[in-house]
Amino acid sequence: MTNEALLTSEALKRAAAAHAVDFVRPGMRVGLGTGSTARHFVELLGERVRQGLDIVAIPTSEATRADAERAGIQLTTLEETPDLDLTVDGADEITRGLNAIKGGGGALLREKIVASASARMIVIADESKWVDTLGRFPLPVEVVPFGVAPTRCAIEQAVAEMGYAGSARQRRTREGHAFVTDGGHLIFDLELGRIPEPQALARRLAGIPGVVEHGLFIGLVRTAIIAGPQGIRIEEA
Ligand code: 5RP
Repeated sequence: MTNEALLTSEALKRAAAAHAVDFVRPGMRVGLGTGSTARHFVELLGERVRQGLDIVAIPTSEATRADAERAGIQLTTLEETPDLDLTVDGADEITRGLNAIKGGGGALLREKIVASASARMIVIADESKWVDTLGRFPLPVEVVPFGVAPTRCAIEQAVAEMGYAGSARQRRTREGHAFVTDGGHLIFDLELGRIPEPQALARRLAGIPGVVEHGLFIGLVRTAIIAGPQGIRIEEA
């Protein structure tokens, strides 16, 4: 990406985030997503909090926890606050009908738990995330470290049986170490190209022993705020 394109993309992410802040009402319990778009939301929500907006929030990752603390947002836990009013999060891909792929930042498990505990999930994104069909972005699948080799074989066999040609690549850090999630798990990224039936794939992956969660968010997103050069577009499920 050129510097100019990067600047534009950050401006679009921030515009979507700014729009989402208007959905937050006093007294709300708010889930805070993870990633560069969600970070804009946390910063902008922090500005409102400093102006007197009274809310409590749950972060979906340790990175977001640090951002929220820096922004002065009061945090709670799902034990103290099991029902949330709203979660605002980014996405790697989102399509008509508002099914999405998430987990590019490795926070899919907490993101899905927090979104499922919320009355409403709003995805904020620049328009590059809006796609006709999910699957160009590699699908993250979070697994427990125990038995990682047979779990990988089971995942590859499952996707092959469903007609996908792709392979499972274990996620690594820039330094080449295994990427470890906040929950102490590993991630396989599945290069599938195109996922015509995400519900069927989601069911199949969820049934594999060792798989903790996958990045298909089906039926969870109620609203998408998509920012493009022409302005903001709101999509409802
Ligand atoms: C993290 C996520 C992110 O929301 C997703 O990767 C989008 O990130 P970004 O806003 O940086 O493009 O799912 O697990």
